[in-house]
Amino acid sequence: MRVLLTGSAGFIGAAVADQLERAGDEVVRVDLMVPEAHAPDAEPAPGTHRVDVRDAAALGPLLQGIDAVCHQSAMVGAGVTVADLPSYASHNDLGTAVLLAAMHEAAVHRLVVASSMVVYGEGRYACAEHGPQTPGPRSVTALDAGDFENHCTDCGRPLGWETVEEDARLDPRSSYAASKVATEHYTAAWVRQAPGAAIALRYHNVYGPLMPRDTPYSGVAALFRSAIERGDPPNVFEDGGQMRDFVHVSDVARCNVLALRSVAEAPGETFSTYNVCSGEPVPIRRVAELVARGTGSGVAPVVSGRYRLGDVRHIVASPARAARDLGFTAEVRPDQGVPDFATAPLR
Ligand SMILES: NC(=O)c1ccc[n+]([C@@H]2O[C@H](COP(=O)([O-])OP(=O)(O)OC[C@H]3O[C@@H](n4cnc5c(N)ncnc54)[C@H](O)[C@@H]3O)[C@@H](O)[C@H]2O)c1
Repeated sequence: MRVLLTGSAGFIGAAVADQLERAGDEVVRVDLMVPEAHAPDAEPAPGTHRVDVRDAAALGPLLQGIDAVCHQSAMVGAGVTVADLPSYASHNDLGTAVLLAAMHEAAVHRLVVASSMVVYGEGRYACAEHGPQTPGPRSVTALDAGDFENHCTDCGRPLGWETVEEDARLDPRSSYAASKVATEHYTAAWVRQAPGAAIALRYHNVYGPLMPRDTPYSGVAALFRSAIERGDPPNVFEDGGQMRDFVHVSDVARCNVLALRSVAEAPGETFSTYNVCSGEPVPIRRVAELVARGTGSGVAPVVSGRYRLGDVRHIVASPARAARDLGFTAEVRPDQGVPDFATAPLR
């Protein structure tokens, strides 16, 4: 296949490019090398087109003869400040819209797009006695008091978590999350209008070699590791009991390759979404412990009780649909992958 890959110099994009090329596919690399993601002197892989996905005129010639697009470029992170809003809207919403229009213009009808677990908001919960519940955002008063769990609206007891399936309600809680929902919605509209075939991959917490080091936008595993390297204990927010799914970047890249193969064969006008996860949820405190173990530093994580308003309490995905439709099952287990990550090269 000849694949145009946006965000090819990024953490996940570079791993996708690598696996596609090893499988014999041709990759047209596109990356703007935005300063939020790359050091000023960073050089992308040879042959990378330093093109902005918001630039339709520059995308047009690159899309000629392309079989499918793999769209990884985005501003990532949790939407750290209100000042970040225009940047998410511009790179993610507008960037996707311009890319989709340019694909239509160039008669490219196959797309795999990076989405995120953040589209779900709070994940899925149930009270042991009163059944499924959909909690709203947690209150500042409760969080300040160290009350981090969501509670049953009938009996007030803490809710247990359940796995989220792809047809769950979308409930973005940050500017970044809103932009990923918008990305999916633009894609769904393109699928109907073009018509095209698309797959959105909702990655959970991705980690692995060449992850960005230490920006407010870095994943939590990289932040834990950077703290230990500075000689500080990893700072675990809330009470450390937040459940997440950590999926290795090599598995995420492999899932993209499977999705590209699948979308190439898909009948017109299809749009599918998939969780991309390890299927082995872990509490955040355990992730900090696994990182610390991997560094061999003997540093113990500190549970600080701090919190970020945009964070959700538990978000754990069901891997079933990706296994059934794409044949994707993660190979790297967190117990093995997270300690290995502690000494892997970072970007
Ligand atoms: N890392 C995770 O844990 C995670 C989780 C869920 C979803 N995702 C999604 O996966 C995708 C890849 O994320 P990543 O972790 O590799 O991030 P990254 O920051 O390492 O890579 C993103 C790349 O996109 C490029 N880019 C940004 N704006 C651009 C533009 N306008 N034009 C061209 N290039 C542009 C950046 O220069 C960067 O190289 C993103 O869409 C992100 O939302 C990542």
